[in-house]
Amino acid sequence: MKKILLIGATGQLGSAILSDTPSFGLEVVYFPKAELDAANNIQVEEKIKATGPDILINTSAYHLLPECEEHPEKAMEVNVAAVYRMAKLCKQYGVTFVNYSTDYVFDGEKGSLNAEIDPVHPLQIYGISKAAGEFAVMDAHKEGSFIIRTSGLYGGRTGSRSKGGNFVLNIIKEAQGKDTLEVASEQIVNPTYAGHLGAASLRLLSSGAAPGIYHLANEGYCSWAEFATEAFRLAGKRTRVIPVDRGGKNGIITRPKFSALENIKAKKLGIKLPSWQEGLVSYFNFLNSPTK
Ligand SMILES: NC(=O)c1ccc[n+]([C@@H]2O[C@H](COP(=O)([O-])OP(=O)(O)OC[C@H]3O[C@@H](n4cnc5c(N)ncnc54)[C@H](OP(=O)(O)O)[C@@H]3O)[C@@H](O)[C@H]2O)c1
Repeated sequence: MKKILLIGATGQLGSAILSDTPSFGLEVVYFPKAELDAANNIQVEEKIKATGPDILINTSAYHLLPECEEHPEKAMEVNVAAVYRMAKLCKQYGVTFVNYSTDYVFDGEKGSLNAEIDPVHPLQIYGISKAAGEFAVMDAHKEGSFIIRTSGLYGGRTGSRSKGGNFVLNIIKEAQGKDTLEVASEQIVNPTYAGHLGAASLRLLSSGAAPGIYHLANEGYCSWAEFATEAFRLAGKRTRVIPVDRGGKNGIITRPKFSALENIKAKKLGIKLPSWQEGLVSYFNFLNSPTK
């Protein structure tokens, strides 16, 4: 049985991976952040030595966009330097490394789905740091690393702690008591349910796939306004979404207008994710299920 050392087990994606590992016949070990800080090379090496994993999956990141703009050096430390050190350690100990990246490595100018081989051109510090992290991983441990890009991730009962939730939970809260709500219409994404991404990631790792960059996002694409409309419909909310074109701007941050991803390589391996609409249905089912 292959063993996974998982970083970020309490996060949206990490918790999904954690709950899915038994059904893939995989063993998983994880530690509290205080004992295994992804940016602490000594702790990472200690835990690799102590647990002897076949695979290290890192779901941690510095991913608050405004904070990345304010603290670019921290974004580079967490999303590039720490990731580079983890990849190097994995190479040293013969461990497969898995790191997650984002649709924000693209500028969206293509105007259609972005493929794995399309050139990256990020528009803000977060995307710059994640793109640099991809290059760093490939430099350190190309033959043994998977970089999985995803888009508009949401999951978990409370979403991401550091992000204060996720789009679905926050938009429903924001709609409370409102007849209408303005939501961005110009950014095209493929919002992805963490439960589907976690399962697809484990399927990819169990498939004998070659290391490299993979896109794993729920199928199809939509604007945030369309996504909010569907979320309100499923949640039984009467709030009407007013689509607004903000030109990709949100305060000081520029976002790509068409960052949605095409899962070309995964599909060739027979790994197909459900549609973004099915992602939302699965998420509401999860939220309505009893806590284990
Ligand atoms: N969210 C999105 O829309 C989105 C879109 C595209 C790609 N991604 C990428 O997908 C990945 C997973 O994102 P997510 O939304 O699942 O994140 P998340 O919910 O915020 O979870 C991150 C996890 O990592 C932990 N963590 C943070 N810093 C750590 C550190 N230094 N050492 C060890 N653990 C640490 C967090 O613990 P605490 O909560 O206690 O800090 C949490 O358990 C990230 O690489 C992200 O960049 C996300």
